Amino acid sequence: MDAKINWGIVGPGNIATKFVENLKLFNDANIMGVASRSLAKAQEFSKLHHIPHAFGSYGELFSNDAVDVVYIATPHRFHKELAIQAMEAGKHVLCEKPLGVNRKEVEQLVESARKNNVFLMEALWSRFNPSIRAAKQHIDEGMIGEITYLNADFAFYALDRDEQSRLFNPELASGSLLDIGIYPIFLAYLLLGKPDDIHAVSSFHPNGTELQTSMIFTYPKSQAVLFSGFTCNSQMKAGIFGTDGELYIHPRWHQAQEFSVVKNGKEELYKHPLQGNGLFYEIEEVHKCLKEHKTESSLWTHQNSLDLVDLLDTVRRKSGIVFPFE
Ligand SMILES: NC(=O)c1ccc[n+]([C@@H]2O[C@H](COP(=O)([O-])OP(=O)(O)OC[C@H]3O[C@@H](n4cnc5c(N)ncnc54)[C@H](OP(=O)(O)O)[C@@H]3O)[C@@H](O)[C@H]2O)c1
Repeated sequence: MDAKINWGIVGPGNIATKFVENLKLFNDANIMGVASRSLAKAQEFSKLHHIPHAFGSYGELFSNDAVDVVYIATPHRFHKELAIQAMEAGKHVLCEKPLGVNRKEVEQLVESARKNNVFLMEALWSRFNPSIRAAKQHIDEGMIGEITYLNADFAFYALDRDEQSRLFNPELASGSLLDIGIYPIFLAYLLLGKPDDIHAVSSFHPNGTELQTSMIFTYPKSQAVLFSGFTCNSQMKAGIFGTDGELYIHPRWHQAQEFSVVKNGKEELYKHPLQGNGLFYEIEEVHKCLKEHKTESSLWTHQNSLDLVDLLDTVRRKSGIVFPFE
């Protein structure tokens, strides 16, 4: 790999815009091309962000020799198909979360990465957030003793959104769980591992979209109480409670800039200001892995993505979340 890493952007929507703003912070990144289903839209995005190549189909970007790694930023439903097309064309892939909509899709993705000997990572940006990394290290070193209770949520009011949007269109794998519930589930998994049992209850829009989900994950010595929803705003302060103290990841916890630890009646603040808007750190990890010729990150492995989708699948089974295309 050259000193510069050549990126291609697939699906120039909301998150792709933020991603490109972060890519521009890297001296060793070239944004080579952007692909949309519409050439005019790709050209508009390329002009706005000074990207040399604009493609009117995703396939043209995948077959362009100048591109090393693609960022897939389409609605969930298309992640698997597009990431596999890219890997079959020999591209490394950073794919938005969730990597696939179910276990079978994530298995196929991991298999394709192995077969094509390319790098694949789920863009689970919170895993690379400096506050979350430092909090995990402190917890693993025993700062708050043994965790007995964890509380995390992710909710924003979205009931006024368009029913055709990816949040509310069942054909695009709509609902809060895969979009934002994935974050509290990730935090419980990161700090407590896979639970022994899961309880979950959801409520639904008349079109079948899951609107909010409450979950309890049980472990031998602890419980995690988790929530996601489009029905209200939540404060998004995550609490991790142990036998020797408490650790609070401050709002919005999934993109935190600080956390605090309360022990023996004293509170200590740990600040980790973000560079860029927070997506910076997953890009840094991709660059590091590509320069080391790795096919997966050791911070968020293929097995981690498989475990995470297993948890999502179990919650869906317990609470009755189904998609029409499965
Ligand atoms: N990491 C984060 O913080 C974060 C935040 C938001 C979203 N995400 C993830 O990123 C992905 C995209 O989210 P987003 O909010 O950016 O989505 P979005 O703006 O609604 O859509 C992104 C792009 O997907 C393309 N697309 C391809 N097929 C489509 C279809 N059938 N319907 C609609 N769009 C289609 C469109 O680009 P063209 O038509 O130009 O090809 C569209 O601009 C999701 O999987 C989501 O979970 C991550």
